[in-house]
Amino acid sequence: MLSYRHSYHAGNHADVLKHIVLTLCLESLKEKEKSILYLDTHSGAGRYLLQSEHAEKTGEYLSGINLVWQQIAIPEALTPYISVLKRYNPFDTLKYYPGSPLIAKQLLREQDKLNLTELHPSDYPLLKQEFAKDKRANVLREDGFLQLKSKLPPQSRRGIILIDPSYEIKEDYQKIPAAIYEAYKRFATGVYLIWYPVVSRTQSQKMIDGIVNLGIKRISQFELALKPDNNHKGMTASGMIVINPPWKLHEQMQTILPWLSNILDTDKTGNILIKKLVTE
Ligand SMILES: C[S@@+](CC[C@H](N)C(=O)[O-])C[C@H]1O[C@@H](n2cnc3c(N)ncnc32)[C@H](O)[C@@H]1O
Repeated sequence: MLSYRHSYHAGNHADVLKHIVLTLCLESLKEKEKSILYLDTHSGAGRYLLQSEHAEKTGEYLSGINLVWQQIAIPEALTPYISVLKRYNPFDTLKYYPGSPLIAKQLLREQDKLNLTELHPSDYPLLKQEFAKDKRANVLREDGFLQLKSKLPPQSRRGIILIDPSYEIKEDYQKIPAAIYEAYKRFATGVYLIWYPVVSRTQSQKMIDGIVNLGIKRISQFELALKPDNNHKGMTASGMIVINPPWKLHEQMQTILPWLSNILDTDKTGNILIKKLVTE
């Protein structure tokens, strides 16, 4: 039984970090003409109304995307992310937050493909509707983890895989290293983006260690903490593990993460982490 709805959390600080990393990776892969497969294992509904009952109930976007939206000077590398936001919010007011599938939809090209999976009975139809006229997209109500076996490698041998569970099912922490092992066996040159929350540091670290211990080279970590670790009393930080990061990503994040932290960490109690977990 899935109870998690991303509509309560869309546009929070974790989404901002995740989607910035996603846009930077998409833009880097677009430097070559060859087709890209974008595989999003946990897609969500696609579009989120920020003035909805769900979003207003938590108000998480107010301390996330809302603060970024108010900035006048933005690092250059964020232009694609901001341009997608503007595409869905052509006026000054921030009304909609585009989730990962809609970000990819806007940034990908005619020759690219999207494979999107979502299991929630209410969110799947919304996602399907968003892509009703998009011939590049395959939208399925299937288990995203299984796609890592059945849809890899892509024919073009170029792809970005976003693994973004809610971790509402605690087994997700254990499932991820095994799922990556299977995916990497099939497609070792793919760019893998794995989002993680820090609710329990021990739990997220165990999963990260599990990924590092797979023997895969070139793994990086980007984390934004807004509060010190606070075992099981809410999400204090979130991060992205990136396997095969595009060459510019570290340099870009070295500018972007301090900038982002300065805007979002209003209490100045957090931290940032940029780390090569496994090198060449
Ligand atoms: C964190 S949300 C995804 C947000 C989205 N990736 C974004 O960035 O906009 C996680 C989603 O995964 C869905 N989900 C949970 N388990 C799944 C599974 N095994 N396969 C596919 N979707 C799943 C949930 O219903 C939820 O909508």
